[in-house]
Amino acid sequence: KARRPIVIANWKLNGGIDLICTSVASFIGKHFETDIVVCPPYLYMRDMLTFLQYSELRIGSQNVSRYESGAYTGETSAQMLKEAGCSLCIIGHSERRAMFAENNLGCQVKVQTALNHGLLPVLCIGETQEERAANTTKAILLTQLSEGLNTVDLAGKDICIAYEPVWAIGTGLAATPDMVQEVHQFIRTELTRLYNEEIADRVRIVYGGSVNKTNATELLKQKDIDGLLVGGASLDPGHFLAICEQV
Ligand code: G3H
Repeated sequence: KARRPIVIANWKLNGGIDLICTSVASFIGKHFETDIVVCPPYLYMRDMLTFLQYSELRIGSQNVSRYESGAYTGETSAQMLKEAGCSLCIIGHSERRAMFAENNLGCQVKVQTALNHGLLPVLCIGETQEERAANTTKAILLTQLSEGLNTVDLAGKDICIAYEPVWAIGTGLAATPDMVQEVHQFIRTELTRLYNEEIADRVRIVYGGSVNKTNATELLKQKDIDGLLVGGASLDPGHFLAICEQV
C-alpha cells in the first residue's frame, strides 16, 4: 500500500467496561502494520487507556468541540481529547450531520481545531440514497470536501477522509469495492485540484458502511482504499480483530 492503512472502530453510543476489556484482550500481543484506533464514548476513554499499554490499539473520539474552552455546556475540546490520550477525532459523521445539525462550515472549524492540537481529523463525507439516485453523488461529495476543508492549511499535516455513503451505514448494504474505488479516486483527484499532488497522495481515504470480515478483503485490495471505518462489526471484538487481520 502507498499509505499506511488505518482501521477505525466507531462504537457510537454503544459499549461499556465489558466491551473495553474484551476488545483490548483480543488485541494483546498482536502486531499490525496498520494503525488501529477505537473510538469509544468519551466517558470510557480513560478506562480504555489504562489497558492500552498491552496492545497496539489507540483511542480516538467520535466528535470534537469547535470551541477551545468556555461556556459551552456538554462540549469536549480538542485539547482535552489530546490530554486524554486520543490520537484522532471523527468529524462530521453523517449521524451528526443528520441528527445534530452539523454542517460543512462547522466541520471545517473542527478540522482546523483538531490539527491545531495534534489530533488526526477524520472528515466524514457521503451521499444519501436520494442523492445517488439523482446522480449528484460527486457534486455532493465535492461540496462536503471543499467546504469542509476550506482554507485549512494541510502543508505538513495529516488528515484522513472517510467516505461513508449514508445508504450503506448500518444497513448491511455495503458499497461494492469498484464503487468505492471510483469515489476514492475522485476524492483524491479533487484533493489534487484543491491542494496539490503531494498532499493528495498523502491523505488516507477510508471507507465506512456495513464493513464486515467478509467484504473487508476485497475493499482493501483497491488502490485508493487506505482503510476502513467500522461501526456495527467493531462491537464484536473477534469480528473486529478478523477485519484488522486482513489489512
Ligand atoms: O462510523 C461508522 C459507520 O457509520 C459505519 O457503520 O459499519 O455499522 O455500517 P456500520
